[in-house]
Amino acid sequence: MAKAQSSFVIPIESKNNALALQVGAKKDLSTIYFGKKLTSTGEYAHVPAVYKQTSDYTGLLNSVYTPSGSRNLMEPAITVTHADGNNSLDLKYVSHKITDVKEGVKLLSVVLKDPVYAFEVTLFYQVYYNEDVIEQWTEIRHQEKGNVILHKFASANLHLKAGSYWLKQYHGDWAKEMQPEESKLTHGIKTLDTKLGTRANLFQPSVFMVSLDKPAGEDEGDILYGALEYSGNFRIDLEVDYQDNLRIIAGINNYASPYTLKTGEIFKTPAFLYTFSDLGKGAASRKLQSWARNYKLMDGKGSRLTLLNNWEATQFDFNENKLAELLKDTKKIGVDLFLLDDGWFANKYPRNDDHAGLGDWQENKKKLPNGIASLVKEAQNNEVKFGIWIEPEMVNPKSELYEKHPDWVVKEDKREEYYFRNQLVLDLSNPQVQDFVYGVVDGLFTKNPELAYIKWDCNAVIYNAHSATLKNQNHFYIEYMRGLYKVLERIRAKYPAVPMMLCSGGGGRVDYAALQYFTEFWPSDNTDPLERIFMQWEYSYFYPAISSSNHVTDWGKQPLKFRTDVAMMGKLGFDIVVSKLSENDLKFCKEAIQVYNGLKPTIWQGNQYRLANPREGSVASMLYLSADLSKGVVFNYLVSSRYDEGSKLPVRLKGLDPVRKYRLKEVNLYPGVSSALSGEQVYSGDFLMKVGFNPLLDLNRTSVVMQIEAL
Ligand code: GLA
Repeated sequence: MAKAQSSFVIPIESKNNALALQVGAKKDLSTIYFGKKLTSTGEYAHVPAVYKQTSDYTGLLNSVYTPSGSRNLMEPAITVTHADGNNSLDLKYVSHKITDVKEGVKLLSVVLKDPVYAFEVTLFYQVYYNEDVIEQWTEIRHQEKGNVILHKFASANLHLKAGSYWLKQYHGDWAKEMQPEESKLTHGIKTLDTKLGTRANLFQPSVFMVSLDKPAGEDEGDILYGALEYSGNFRIDLEVDYQDNLRIIAGINNYASPYTLKTGEIFKTPAFLYTFSDLGKGAASRKLQSWARNYKLMDGKGSRLTLLNNWEATQFDFNENKLAELLKDTKKIGVDLFLLDDGWFANKYPRNDDHAGLGDWQENKKKLPNGIASLVKEAQNNEVKFGIWIEPEMVNPKSELYEKHPDWVVKEDKREEYYFRNQLVLDLSNPQVQDFVYGVVDGLFTKNPELAYIKWDCNAVIYNAHSATLKNQNHFYIEYMRGLYKVLERIRAKYPAVPMMLCSGGGGRVDYAALQYFTEFWPSDNTDPLERIFMQWEYSYFYPAISSSNHVTDWGKQPLKFRTDVAMMGKLGFDIVVSKLSENDLKFCKEAIQVYNGLKPTIWQGNQYRLANPREGSVASMLYLSADLSKGVVFNYLVSSRYDEGSKLPVRLKGLDPVRKYRLKEVNLYPGVSSALSGEQVYSGDFLMKVGFNPLLDLNRTSVVMQIEAL
């Protein structure tokens, strides 16, 4: 426990960055610095004096956690009504301590207290030294005589100083996930948020970037990345205040969620995650990707299974025989696992389309007279693994589950039901529903211990947010998420290793709270490879390739090779009718999987460098490079079909060892096609980074994969 002196600085330093907090004479805790670390820790204290901005009339403009109802005039981080009905809050520094969590990870906690009320907030900063990542959250508690209402309860409240701020944010819809927009922040508040409850990212994810002074490039400029680790409603306010500083207040969305906090109860907020780089978007993304693999993503350093999925190939129309054929195809093309998608369950209201059956997780006797068990066995006979699709949080009104347990469903009894994809959401705030959802997964594994993979879908948003059992409806959105995480905790306690894909009608639910339980996510139902080049590009700023499930399907007009190359830039899967492939197509797929098996350690664990941005020209180019700089792979695409388009200029590589020599070789060629690159391609790292390399893309050669090996 550090002793409180009159005024002092608490520096939070990682390998390259620093966040400096200052305890003032009146015990207000403020942010005085955020950015590149200073050589001398003692100099953070001099920072405030060199800024000559207009007055801070409150002494709270740069508060680390802005309370409201006292002196504050800006957007608060926390707003409360005390047990006596009073709305004022002030928070003063009491103490702080630093603990070692594990190697490279430290946790700073700072206790703040209201001088008048028995109300306190502890701020937590978990610092990942090597990755320059901070996770920040808070715990709120009180000892007042009666309940306190929390009206706002942010996870973090950052304060940045720069000449201007450029926000890169994302929007989307089904099949159009991760559409970027970049704009200058003006004075006032810009809010990124969702009120969808489940499938929360459908229109907007919580991931964003803020460049300082000018939009950062791929390899230059000051940039902050932020994201809330939460799968439900979030809210991020970016406020440029009258002093021209940027305040970022991020947390659970307080929309329809005033929280009644009992005496002694702890309200813990989800973590807000951020990293900073002065070397542009690329470096920031590599930090975040390493952090995710090292600490957050389930099995981030592990392996993944290639698979054949039947969704695009059969939709709901299959039976045991058809699946047996598909299982043979799985073995034939050489992937590790067969994934059975939607449509395998429900009897009274069979799941033959998306209008019925959700909730009734018993095998459909007509389609699967011998159950999942026989399919698992059939998979074993074919020497592949077997995985299955579920959507356990949901229910169709046409289902036995709905008939039996209407009170388990999120709806307003007084109002007409309203559906998203003909379905409703189950009330995970109800412990009985939690048991049911857990039971869906547990039941599958208990009956089929060899089951090797789960695709967990979530296709509806929450309308008519109301629980039949919850005492305080204002807690609904929060209790839903607590319920979901409880279920996932239980599943992981019993089944710690089984890979699970996080899917949500495409990419409607991707965040680092959920990815603690899932090995991968489904970026979008849109698998048109041209669209995927753009989408995967944007996802890659925040999530490592190993977490991105990319399937080769029949979407789009590109040839099979193009589609496969794009899907290889992550975790490869197929969702095509293998039996309908031409001889050459089949040969290509088989060979592609072999090629992929050789490249996947580099794609999954290597560092990712964006070389040519498809939004800025006709060529897209992405490099994955092993940590020891000895192996790499570059994916190159022509993204325009206009006359005479091609890679006119060489593509400059990044991250290589300038002194070493590298051999480049085109791989993943279609049978019978030879590479346009003739002769031995050996260049120094220096040459490849300063001059570059031409993949010779043209209208007949739209997709080129280059393998790189240090000699
Ligand atoms: C969602 C998923 C798809 C597929 C279907 C099945 O749309 O994103 O991949 O599983 O559901 O109904």
